[in-house]
Amino acid sequence: MPYLKSQHLCDVNYEIRGKIAQKSAELLRSGHNIIELNIGNPAQFGFRVPEAINQAITQNIIQAEAYTDSKGIFPARQAVVNEVQLQGIADVKIEHVFLGNGVSELILLAMEALLNPGDEVLIPSPDYPLWTAAVRLSGGKAVHYNCIEEKGWIPDLADMEAKITSRTKAIVVINPNNPTGAVYDRETLTEIVDLARTHNLILYSDEIYNKITYDGIEHIPMASLSTDVLTVTFGGLSKVYRAAGYRVGWLYFSGPVREAEDYIDGITLLASMRLCSNALGQWGVQAALGGIQSIFSLTAPGGRLYNQRNAVYERLNAIDGVHCAKPLGALYAFPSFDLRRFRFKNDEDFVYRFLSEQQVLLVQGKGFNYFSECHFRVVFLPQVDLINDAMDRLEEFLRENQA
Ligand SMILES: Cc1ncc(COP(=O)(O)O)c(C=O)c1O
Repeated sequence: MPYLKSQHLCDVNYEIRGKIAQKSAELLRSGHNIIELNIGNPAQFGFRVPEAINQAITQNIIQAEAYTDSKGIFPARQAVVNEVQLQGIADVKIEHVFLGNGVSELILLAMEALLNPGDEVLIPSPDYPLWTAAVRLSGGKAVHYNCIEEKGWIPDLADMEAKITSRTKAIVVINPNNPTGAVYDRETLTEIVDLARTHNLILYSDEIYNKITYDGIEHIPMASLSTDVLTVTFGGLSKVYRAAGYRVGWLYFSGPVREAEDYIDGITLLASMRLCSNALGQWGVQAALGGIQSIFSLTAPGGRLYNQRNAVYERLNAIDGVHCAKPLGALYAFPSFDLRRFRFKNDEDFVYRFLSEQQVLLVQGKGFNYFSECHFRVVFLPQVDLINDAMDRLEEFLRENQA
């Protein structure tokens, strides 16, 4: 008799490391040289963790042998509070900061502690798919609101509002955005806060890319605008500090937290059940958050990330039949091809054939809960030379597949 996975996994997907990535791994094993543009994993492309973070971790290696407090060590949580204060968000208390094994784990805890069967959560489409997966895994219903490509992928507020029902519990905002690279302006964020206030919804603001913006674009923390709405903000070391493998993230509550005591108890219970998050990584947080932020020299004009963002954006738009909105933040572009002009059934067909014919791994738009049939995500972490190599292959592939 076959051993089956549980039914609550039936609608749970994570295609970034899914079937297409497995196919790519097979090709790698059989000797192919694959350009992997599927995962936002900075160290894979030679980015290094700031020295002070590594020193803080190695100097505390003995201390890190023990379990920590379930919410995390004091200096790390206080460092989060201090940073948040400098962003103009007053009144965040250290007991409302939780450290986790990456933002990933905290998203799971936050949804598991919140949702009853059938509760609805508004999630962007396209999304970072862990959000949809976490809501479904927790028995909730992921309801997707559109983001508008023609307007630089900002959320469609009318669509968001139209999808609010008596079961809606929360709105998820990913800013700067994965997969689109959008960074939301004050007006958009204020309107989202207004909606949440009117309908008594919790705001979840995934700000893991908060310091990765280009062209002088300002990232505005949601919590600085939502002082009277319960807000849960997420950040971490994986992207801004290039330490994805250390598995360190945090969340903090702001706004009317007194009304959320029971919910916070729920997260505390779940945090206790997994004892604590990786202690070594926690020792890097204080060193990360203070002082000069080395990410800014990578995103400034002439910096490595800036140049790579430009290379991807320019090369994609130079291809006839391909369009890409300019990423203003994060590490990704989310272009589309004109379905009528090429011989692809859909986005999935496109990425699978591109992988087998040109050995470049991308992820189809569907993997981000976006069902246009013609979008895909490109990670722009590789050096410009490798980006150019991948884009040459894309050009050739599209030339060969014209309708
Ligand atoms: C928007 C977003 N949130 C969360 C995560 C997960 O990050 P972590 O490494 O902290 O688990 C990612 C990773 O790519 C992401 O893009």
